[in-house]
Amino acid sequence: MKIAMIGTGYVGLVTGTCFADSGNDVVCVDIDEEKIAALKAGEIPIYEPGLSELVVRNSESGRLTFTTDLADGVSRSQIIYLAVGTPPAADGSADLTALRAVVDQMAPHLTDDAVVVTKSTVPVGTNQFIFERLQELLGREVDVASNPEFLKEGAAIDDFMKPDRVVVGVRRAEVAEILNELYRPFLRTDRPFLAMSPQSAELTKYVANALLSTKISFINEMANLCEQMGGDINDVRRGIGHDQRIGFAFLFPGVGYGGSCFPKDVRALASMARDLGLDPRIMDAVDSVNQHQKTVLVDKIKNYFEGDVTGKRIAVWGLAFKPRTDDIREAPALTLLDYLLENGAQPQVHDPEASENIRARYGNKLVYCESAMDALNGADALAINTEWKAYHNPDFDDMKNRMNGRVIFDGRNLYEPEQMLKKGFSYYSIGRPP
Ligand code: UGA
Repeated sequence: MKIAMIGTGYVGLVTGTCFADSGNDVVCVDIDEEKIAALKAGEIPIYEPGLSELVVRNSESGRLTFTTDLADGVSRSQIIYLAVGTPPAADGSADLTALRAVVDQMAPHLTDDAVVVTKSTVPVGTNQFIFERLQELLGREVDVASNPEFLKEGAAIDDFMKPDRVVVGVRRAEVAEILNELYRPFLRTDRPFLAMSPQSAELTKYVANALLSTKISFINEMANLCEQMGGDINDVRRGIGHDQRIGFAFLFPGVGYGGSCFPKDVRALASMARDLGLDPRIMDAVDSVNQHQKTVLVDKIKNYFEGDVTGKRIAVWGLAFKPRTDDIREAPALTLLDYLLENGAQPQVHDPEASENIRARYGNKLVYCESAMDALNGADALAINTEWKAYHNPDFDDMKNRMNGRVIFDGRNLYEPEQMLKKGFSYYSIGRPP
């Protein structure tokens, strides 16, 4: 099939590349000339495991091309995927400026049998808005489907190639059939292709992210409770996870969820509910618990240094909002770095992938270290924000030799408290006794 992917950000690039890999002819369109030029040269603007190889392979085969020419991309495609950004507006709702502009610009170039598909996470009703707008502009009905994505950063290729399910929102069964064909190479026999109304498909995306965020905020609140009551959240987590109704997924306590999806989608869902006169109490609580959780490591550091971190050299391991990505949007590390800088401490930071993004934000206010161990030189403490694999089994003797103060604030529960004590560290983690 001939596909145009409008918007070559994270979602668009992964989706377009994977569709090309399954034999389709995909043209990726973006207004960012620099980005398109880089992609044409085989340079990938984001870090996502496996993506670079896939882009190069499919570009070489000619199935994946890049352009800034929207009219050309749209006029030679049957399926037009919309994957432009929908960043949060000031009130938490999704900003649809880019999406609306694309709809208007592409309208005159749509072929008679074109199917427009939204991939970006958009407020419920956006599909209907696009349908009506195209009808107004063209004087005819264009098929507009919704196809929410469930990709996790750091595992996006795998998620796309082996989805748990594919959800599409359509007005006609024939459109579902076209999309089913597109996804058939990725759907193993036991994985469903679920066709529903556009509204239900749009909602499905928000509801999935809302429930996952709720699980995280829930376990974080329980972790804080464990600390006060002398329990160990890791034991409690195991104690509940074996109950199949509860399960283990997304019940790891930490420094709060970040990234471009959970925070924005929880707030957008709450904002949609408020617009309808509803009171989204659970979503508001999930968001506020998460805001608080981003400060727990800061509070532990504050307590330890009795409120004065002036001149303290604090090693910070992990800046990305989670491992296997360079994304720092809404990352808990930002809360920590802001506190340290505002209070006169000197952060010495390390991250395998996200340092450049952090540098763009903080410039030379931080000491950037090539290796995790270098970040510890002369440090008064270590704070861990992201559970990169490389941090799981460090050489603790080497650490002790390098550090000035032997104290670790672990926001991801990487080590065993008892062992850390034996190794001679003061160790503070989340929801476990020190
Ligand atoms: C999330 C969803 O998992 C995807 O299904 C969805 O497609 C995507 O949002 C999206 O809407 O585009 P992502 O934001 O890439 O994916 O990352 P996750 O792996 O879900 O992690 C989100 C945050 O939750 C991270 O900060 C992570 O550290 C935190 N988390 C996750 C926990 O604190 N505890 C857990 O047990 C799991």
